[in-house]
Amino acid sequence: HRHLTGIEGLQPHEIVFLLDEADGWVAANRTRAISDKRLGGLTLINAFFENSTRTLLSFEIAGKRLGADVINMHAAQSSVKKGETLIDTAMTLNAMRADVIVIRHMSSGAVRLIAGKVDCPVLNAGDGQHEHPTQALLDALTIRRRRGTIAGQRVVICGDILHSRVARSNILALTALAAEVRVCAPATLMPEGIERMGVTPFTDFDTALEGADVVMMLRVQNERMAGGFIPSNREFHLRYGLTLKRLERAGPDALVMHPGPMNRGVEIDSAVADHARSAITEQVEMGVAVRMACLDVLTRRSRGVAGWA
Ligand code: CP
Repeated sequence: HRHLTGIEGLQPHEIVFLLDEADGWVAANRTRAISDKRLGGLTLINAFFENSTRTLLSFEIAGKRLGADVINMHAAQSSVKKGETLIDTAMTLNAMRADVIVIRHMSSGAVRLIAGKVDCPVLNAGDGQHEHPTQALLDALTIRRRRGTIAGQRVVICGDILHSRVARSNILALTALAAEVRVCAPATLMPEGIERMGVTPFTDFDTALEGADVVMMLRVQNERMAGGFIPSNREFHLRYGLTLKRLERAGPDALVMHPGPMNRGVEIDSAVADHARSAITEQVEMGVAVRMACLDVLTRRSRGVAGWA
């Protein structure tokens, strides 16, 4: 089976194919009346070992809109709490004959590990600091629909780059599609050698914002600090918070994005989050279409339909 464990390993034409497939679901999604139940008879298990609002619900909605039977496993209510290992949990899901499994886990690499153990396609819904591929796809789709193209767009990703799987997957997707990517963070929250990913690092947000077409803000992931330096909310807002005044440095019609969950008043002011230039709710909407496309494309082979382009 082909899995979606990350953007890494995808060819640019495969990313574009998934975006085109997702784009095809947007209009139908707005009517909520989707008669095409192509996943009918399939069982989708969402196994979430970490909290989620957007990703879990949009995978559930995506599966149901296409006719799949959707089962959600929340780790907090599962036998994981009784000491069951990740592999044993995966083997249990496999024995129930799931047709597709979606996994969120706090450990980088956990999803790839499970993908190697089960007999169905596995999709990564975010693993530790590694990747969150469907988030990057929904972000790319939002940019493409709003700006008309991704190639040549100056995208500034600002916040806790070090701990962010969203930043990593977005860097991989956006550079593959020829965007100009700038990353901005305090030195303590910037991965060493990030230039090797084809991006330009900045520690000064005002400089990074010059001429930006897209400004993508990320929250500080206090839960992943492991004893490291945690900036105070006030200090972070002063140097890296996106305010209306700061946004003036970006291009005149720059798009504001945030994967959520937002910490209003820390990395982004409410006036910016709720501004006409903000695409934050559109990102959530694109999330359903992207997850429909991914579930469809990845199960095509098992449904006897031609697979990837
Ligand atoms: N953006 C995102 O992954 O949000 P959730 O953690 O709510 O799924």
